Amino acid sequence: MMKRDGIIASALLLAILGSAAFIAAYFTGGDRLYEGLGIAAAAVGLCIAAAGWAFWIVPEEKVVDEVDTYPSSLDDRATQSGEVSEGLRELTRSRALVALLVAALGSFAAALILPIRSLGLAPDALLFRTRWRRGARIVRDDGTLVHVDDLNVDTVMTVFPEGATGDPQSVVTLVRVPESIPGTASGYVAYSRLCTHAGCPVALYRAQERELICPCHQSVFDVLADGAVISGPADHALPRLPIEIGSDGILRATDDFSEPVGPGFWERG
Ligand code: FES
Repeated sequence: MMKRDGIIASALLLAILGSAAFIAAYFTGGDRLYEGLGIAAAAVGLCIAAAGWAFWIVPEEKVVDEVDTYPSSLDDRATQSGEVSEGLRELTRSRALVALLVAALGSFAAALILPIRSLGLAPDALLFRTRWRRGARIVRDDGTLVHVDDLNVDTVMTVFPEGATGDPQSVVTLVRVPESIPGTASGYVAYSRLCTHAGCPVALYRAQERELICPCHQSVFDVLADGAVISGPADHALPRLPIEIGSDGILRATDDFSEPVGPGFWERG
């Protein structure tokens, strides 16, 4: 019995050490090899301990308790006294194993839960903000800056904030319309490229009507009316990015979008 308890205890210790190794590797730079070895050792230890517990500790025998006759004989009393002593010893051993089991399960759970920290930005940041900030310069997808002279009237360009090229939440369609149209930055207006219906890229521009069109389900947005929906299944306007022309002629944002980009979610009215 002692040998079996020793095997289970060793397996539980292996699980504790494996979990501790994983946590240490995670906090000291996240070396994948050591993280994998640690969590694998912990899982193997727990499996061995669980099997040993099931086969060796959980009682299987059926006990038939016969009716006693009193007073018991001296031999019976001696036998029963020995059984009670043995039971107490087993109980003490089991308590130590239970303590090890709790420690092993606790450390394994911690090793599984801690990596949640690495899942990226908090949900509220993803839902409510993009990488656009006041003063963020506007760049093409190759990272080059956009100058006020770069676009002809009635042409469009896909742009990002400097330093966040390719960020899917921050992608913007830059449109140039005649400078004489009020409410523009020297004729430039900028809208989120994510369709407010289901998130497809609003990739088409109809110059004659000054409309942006989503090819997925043909929602049409008015470039000169703050991205209002003209037709299609989208139920709210394309978010507009506030922009200005810097003294160096480079386009830049004056703030983030004033509302979440992309399809609607529970916070919208
Ligand atoms: S995703 Fe744009 S209209 Fe449906």
